[in-house]
Amino acid sequence: MEISVIGAGHVGLVTGACFADLGHRVVIVDNDAKRIAGLKKGAMPYYEPGLEELVLRGIREKRLTFTTSMKEAVDKTTIIFIAVGTPQKATGEADLAYVENVARSIAEHLPGYRLIVEKSTVPVQTGKWVHHTIKTYLKKKHPFDVASNPEFLREGSAIQDIMKPDRVVIGVESERAKKLLTELYKPLGVPIVVTDIASAELIKHASNSFLSMKISFINAVSQICERAGADVEQVAHGMGLDPRIGRSFLNAGAGYGGFCFPKDVEAFIKISETFGYDFELMKAVRNVNEHQKRSFAQKVQKALWVVRGKTIGVLGLAFKPNTDDMRYAPAIDVIEYLEGEGAAVQAFDPQAMHEAQKLLPNVKMCKDPYEAARGADCLVIATEWNEFKELNFTRIKKLLKQPLIVDGRNIYDPDRMKKLGFRYIPIGRGRHEAH
Ligand code: UGA
Repeated sequence: MEISVIGAGHVGLVTGACFADLGHRVVIVDNDAKRIAGLKKGAMPYYEPGLEELVLRGIREKRLTFTTSMKEAVDKTTIIFIAVGTPQKATGEADLAYVENVARSIAEHLPGYRLIVEKSTVPVQTGKWVHHTIKTYLKKKHPFDVASNPEFLREGSAIQDIMKPDRVVIGVESERAKKLLTELYKPLGVPIVVTDIASAELIKHASNSFLSMKISFINAVSQICERAGADVEQVAHGMGLDPRIGRSFLNAGAGYGGFCFPKDVEAFIKISETFGYDFELMKAVRNVNEHQKRSFAQKVQKALWVVRGKTIGVLGLAFKPNTDDMRYAPAIDVIEYLEGEGAAVQAFDPQAMHEAQKLLPNVKMCKDPYEAARGADCLVIATEWNEFKELNFTRIKKLLKQPLIVDGRNIYDPDRMKKLGFRYIPIGRGRHEAH
């Protein structure tokens, strides 16, 4: 099939590269000329495991091209995916200016039937507005369809998530659109859920909100565990074996971050408000997350007694492992809090230091975890990169001024840490809290 993807961000670029790998001819459009020029030469705008190989293969086999020209893309392709950003406005709702712009531009260039598919996370009823916008700005009365096909990929495992998703959701309003999209996704051999457009849009916001709710729930439970001398890891395991609950997304920690959960929870609260419903549950999810991030920073403060004048080593900056994405990373909140209290922070992250330095100019970036530990009064784990799981702890202990680790991602075994001679402070493991 001839496909175009508008927007070369975290969703658009991976989606386009995967479609090309499945044998389709794909053109990716972005108005960022520098990004497009880089991509043509095989330079990735962000880090995602496996993406570079995939893009290079697509370019080599001439199935994947890049352009800044909407006209070129709309001319050549039958299915047009809109994967532009829907950032958060100061009010919390999603900013749909980019989506509207793209819809207008598609309308202006439409040469015949096209299927326009929303891939970006958008509020329910955006499809209706995209349809209205295209109809309004059409130069000639060509037929077209609008569909919704929300993306469920996670950063860090994006390719796997696209190639082997749990389900594909398509919201359509015509047989023609349904046929095109089911044909596109059939080779993946996974369940295809066909709905109306509004329901597909809601599936996305409801899914992200539900997952955020699971995390906030276990984080709230972790607070009780700490106070009651219980272990949140054991509680999550015991709960998670019930298939109605499930163990995934029950990892207590320093709070959720990234460009999706915080933004989508906020947007879902706003969407509900628009429809006259006060979604109190989601407000609590957001508040628990804010509290969890603050509580983690306060844990470090408590462990150090006085923070002013201390040096703190931080391992992990990205909002999660396997990405260089720093957007809404809990590490930012923790570091800003500790710096505000007068600490000097030195940090290491395998991928995100370049991005992090822009947001955290006072942090000294280190070449490895050992340099981050050198001379520090405390080592803080903010992101659970695999390479932090097995460190030379004898060396770490020697490098630290005092053997103190505050672990915001529960990656170590408390008994082992104790045996190694550390004062180890995890999240929600009251039984193991060292004071
Ligand atoms: C999330 C969803 O998982 C994807 O399905 C969705 O497509 C994507 O948002 C999106 O809307 O684009 P992502 O933000 O890449 O994906 O990352 P997640 O793996 O979901 O993690 C989000 C945050 O939750 C991270 O900060 C992570 O550390 C935190 N988290 C996750 C926890 O604190 N505990 C958990 O048990 C799981």
